[in-house]
Amino acid sequence: MADLVPERMELEFDTVAEWTRVAVAELGDDHAIPAACRGSASPDGLDRLVAACGVGRGTRLADVGGGTGGPAAYAREYFGADPVVVDPMPGACRAAASMFGLPAVVGDGHRILLATGSVPACWCLGVLRTVREKDVLLGELHRILRPGGGLGLLVYTADEPRPAGAPEGNLFPTVAGTRDLLDQAGFTVVEEAPLTGFADAPRSWHDRIGRVDEVLTRDHGDDPRFRAAEEQADRIGRLISEGTVTGVLLHATAR
Ligand SMILES: C[S@@+](CC[C@H](N)C(=O)[O-])C[C@H]1O[C@@H](n2cnc3c(N)ncnc32)[C@H](O)[C@@H]1O
Repeated sequence: MADLVPERMELEFDTVAEWTRVAVAELGDDHAIPAACRGSASPDGLDRLVAACGVGRGTRLADVGGGTGGPAAYAREYFGADPVVVDPMPGACRAAASMFGLPAVVGDGHRILLATGSVPACWCLGVLRTVREKDVLLGELHRILRPGGGLGLLVYTADEPRPAGAPEGNLFPTVAGTRDLLDQAGFTVVEEAPLTGFADAPRSWHDRIGRVDEVLTRDHGDDPRFRAAEEQADRIGRLISEGTVTGVLLHATAR
């Protein structure tokens, strides 16, 4: 893989993904999408990206860095999309395949194993901060999209790449830097909105996440790997709540 993927990121995105799959198997399928959308947009934000990218029944949607498949499964469940998840973490891909029956390809966003111009819509949610070669990743998203195709991005931005207290392995782009990178990769930004402008997820969604957390803590709370992964998540949560890091949803089209 072209990127660092420090140990803690691997714990957060791979080991915990596997544990989440097991927790969802115990709690029931209705817990799967909320548990697998963590770190990504709320249903309101996803609805916006679906509409912006023209995702409808049968639309092929590549979710690059799609993790355990929550956003892709949401797009299929509520809008009839035909998603494929690409993620470098084998545990995340196994979870996406097992929880949702999604096609999930273990692969790096710097060399996406999809043909050039093969998809009309592509998402990449919460991924940019975890990769160093952001230009290469965006270039690949552009390559796999058909001309005119829609890109939905969730980008966590900050004024500096590594503000104090940043999670291990995270390098945050600025808002202006993100726009420049998109332009250089061949995208035209159509719309951009802060995540704070979207409605919070429903109470029932948060309750399901809470129950998954309880099972994870019950089963792995004493495991140092779980505590390290939790600390990663706590760090980004803190930076967001103090306003150092801002989530931005973007819709862009491939020129
Ligand atoms: C915060 S999670 C977001 C997961 C999912 N997109 C969501 O919104 O729920 C970041 C994801 O980026 C993935 N990732 C890390 N490095 C990557 C790379 N080089 N190429 C593609 N994905 C990568 C991680 O494995 C992880 O699943």
